[in-house]
Amino acid sequence: MTHRSPFARLKAFGRADKSPLRLGPKPEPGARVLCVASGKGGTGKSVLATNLAVTRARGGERVLLVDFDAGLANAHLLLGLAPQHDMGHVMEGRVRPQEALVDGPFGMKLLSGGVGRAALVNPTRRELDRLFKALRSLESEFDLVIVDHGAGMGYGMVAHLAATSTLLLVTNHEVTALSDGYAVYKRAHMVNPGIRVGLVVNRVPDEHLSRAAFDRFSAASRRFLGHQPEFVGWVPADPAVSHSVQVRVPVVIDSPESEAARSFARIAAWAPIDQARTASAFYEKARKALR
Ligand SMILES: Nc1ncnc2c1ncn2[C@@H]1O[C@H](COP(=O)(O)OP(=O)(O)OP(=O)(O)O)[C@@H](O)[C@H]1O
Ligand SMILES: [Mg+2]
Repeated sequence: MTHRSPFARLKAFGRADKSPLRLGPKPEPGARVLCVASGKGGTGKSVLATNLAVTRARGGERVLLVDFDAGLANAHLLLGLAPQHDMGHVMEGRVRPQEALVDGPFGMKLLSGGVGRAALVNPTRRELDRLFKALRSLESEFDLVIVDHGAGMGYGMVAHLAATSTLLLVTNHEVTALSDGYAVYKRAHMVNPGIRVGLVVNRVPDEHLSRAAFDRFSAASRRFLGHQPEFVGWVPADPAVSHSVQVRVPVVIDSPESEAARSFARIAAWAPIDQARTASAFYEKARKALR
């Protein structure tokens, strides 16, 4: 992905070298950011986020997957990786963010959320601020940052919702998942009225049930909020996914011809992912939203 330099026009007139230094330093461009959330646990956020990251990286983008399920991370397991460092080390200032990244398939990078470290489970606002400040330096190195959220709706996640332009909500056809997904959708619009939200119905027996789930969700949101998310796609309950989790290889690599893999590939082509850039850097906005 190329970023148009603010100096491009001046250069075109051959004046860049001679112009006074009034323009100041070139701001570092931020990456496009896609948050993946659901409210409810176990809906398939991490499976979706890892398969999207791999698919987009295979397409040639520089992709960073941030496992923001801090303290209970598992994206590294789904990718078959063994990170030496995680975001806890970054938060504590023990390593630079670049040093905490681990290489995944097709050049994608993972920042693990860390497993079983109490300090990570409930970070304070100050700790999160330190983390976001550190992660800001990564943004210019990637085209796309995908943030895999954990269950629940803590203030760390709400800060992400306030800062992102694009959110994928993962639900399934059960009323509990739909209800939690609706709560996240409502909150996201409250803190970020311009947010673009897409719904993915995962682990459903068939398309009919996925459409019925979407219709229920959108009818409630239209009625109570006056708007609705976009239907991005559905993913069948597919034994190929269970197998991929077992062998620690994302299903789009392990069984690319499976129905689930094809669904993930279609979801990865959702157009708003290509437009998911905010006017200012994502992590700067997220820091402001923490205050
Ligand atoms: N489409 C699917 N077909 C079959 N199994 C699936 C599918 N999607 C997810 N699963 C199963 O559900 C499990 C939970 O998925 P995943 O870890 O992605 O959920 P999650 O929403 O990230 O959970 P958490 O809230 O704990 O972060 C996976 O380990 C996988 O076995
Ligand atoms: Mg998860």
